[in-house]
Amino acid sequence: MNATRRTRLHRTPEWSALGEHREQLGDTHLRELFAADPGRGTDYTLQVGDLYLDYSKHLVTDRTLTLLRELAAATDVFGLRDAMFRGERINTTEDRAVLHTALRAARDAVVEVDGENVVPRVHAVLDKMSAFADRIRSGEWAGHTGKRIRTVVNIGIGGSDLGPAMAYEVLRSFTDRDLTVRFVSNVDGADLHEAVRDLDPAETLFIVASKTFTTIETITNATSARNWLLTGLGAGQEAVARHFVALSTNSEKVAEFGIDPANMFEFWDWVGGRYSFDSAIGLSLMIAIGPGRFREMLDGFRLVDEHFRTAPPEENAPLLLGLLGIWYGSFFDAQTHAVLPYSHYLSKFTAYLQQLDMESNGKSVERDGSPVAWQTGPVVWGTPGTNGQHAYYQLIHQGTKVIPADFIGFARPVADLPSGLVAQHDLLMANFFAQTQALAFGKTPDEVRAEGVAEELVPHKTFRGNHPTTTILASELTPSVLGQLIALYEHKVFVQGAVWNIDSFDQWGVELGKVLAKEVEPVLTGDSAGEGLDSSTAALVSTYREIRGR
Ligand code: F6P
Repeated sequence: MNATRRTRLHRTPEWSALGEHREQLGDTHLRELFAADPGRGTDYTLQVGDLYLDYSKHLVTDRTLTLLRELAAATDVFGLRDAMFRGERINTTEDRAVLHTALRAARDAVVEVDGENVVPRVHAVLDKMSAFADRIRSGEWAGHTGKRIRTVVNIGIGGSDLGPAMAYEVLRSFTDRDLTVRFVSNVDGADLHEAVRDLDPAETLFIVASKTFTTIETITNATSARNWLLTGLGAGQEAVARHFVALSTNSEKVAEFGIDPANMFEFWDWVGGRYSFDSAIGLSLMIAIGPGRFREMLDGFRLVDEHFRTAPPEENAPLLLGLLGIWYGSFFDAQTHAVLPYSHYLSKFTAYLQQLDMESNGKSVERDGSPVAWQTGPVVWGTPGTNGQHAYYQLIHQGTKVIPADFIGFARPVADLPSGLVAQHDLLMANFFAQTQALAFGKTPDEVRAEGVAEELVPHKTFRGNHPTTTILASELTPSVLGQLIALYEHKVFVQGAVWNIDSFDQWGVELGKVLAKEVEPVLTGDSAGEGLDSSTAALVSTYREIRGR
């Protein structure tokens, strides 16, 4: 890594140029930008694999885009990108390489970490996962009593839950409908209880997913699940081998828990938790959709990796999306970023992106530890349309905040949608197109008046418009398209972290709460007096204890 200290972002001439340009742009309206350039709607687009990306409804001109790309060049985004792909230890605070891209490398590719080509190991695990998934799907793998597995329960949290849980929903139409996959993450016992209450232990497989295998929520739930299984089966420890497998980097802890290391699917410390879904962490998804479909998804990831690695700046979609986010965050004071998929299957997609983006770029110090003097990662939020339209879109349309939004939609409904429901797809997509149109162009007071609206209601019925959106349209929701979408966002997040000069691959901010919870727990149970607690926490804890009769 380049050890020389770089000029602080807000002191670079490129940053100042963007500031000046922003002032010149003033209140320029998207209506004006579209009127001035009839080709805008097709010129400001990119095609990446199966994704058609329209960025014409952004508050940018050619000059804005040039200045943003100059900022990317000045901050050496592509230099850091190349270092990542080369396997350099760009996660400096944890001294680790960042190689989720190796998880989807072709079998004959070479990606070295400390002089070792890791690709054969990646494919060995993929092959082992495939063989296991096939055995579960075919019924060849039987439980302790000889019954075939009907339900898979993935126990994990954060990056060991959100990816497979999201993708299982996204790719539901590709799943074996005779097999059910459930996900347990919360240490609230209700989560496990609701997941297993109607299951037959003899037909249940638990996948314990944890990179570290020390995460308290996961180990607690896995221990309770083991008790539930053994009690339900009336069996001893020997039953665990047929009903528990582990996904982890920590074989010692897996063995300590009582899972046979032969039933462990490995990954490595150069895979960040929130970037791990295409590693062994995807086993539950692979069982659901089959190894072939899983590999199609990896191909989709790889396609966008290659695009990010090789496309010139003007055509590089992750670069563009990353820079647009910086433009709004620092020059329009946007605090949030909405991701609004027009597909019911993507209902957990934004929740997945929350960890990817907010755990990566929720940072406030530069790589060398000095405080940043600019905005970093946004609050990411959103739910599928059209539901959101009847809830919070009002604020996006007529509120006071700048909320850049991504609209994601598909031209065709999924293949197995019953023919009687196919017609609804046009209605869904009509809303999809209409919303970005309304957000961009709004409705002027004169247009409102022309409809005969009473003058006192004109301000209420006026839509200012000028709300920026990206539209991502794919022909169909397939495993490959899902891989392409996720890689697009992964690299977008990367670009932003590179410009901001933060470490996007550590997550020290989650530690303090974990440590304090360990200190508070014995106070709740009465095993510690809780001396030294602040007055607010002390009062809350004592109220809790009183209610619990302790
Ligand atoms: O606490 C945050 C975190 O470390 C995430 O980064 C990670 O995805 C999650 O916990 C789960 O960690 P593990 O896979 O080690 O159980």
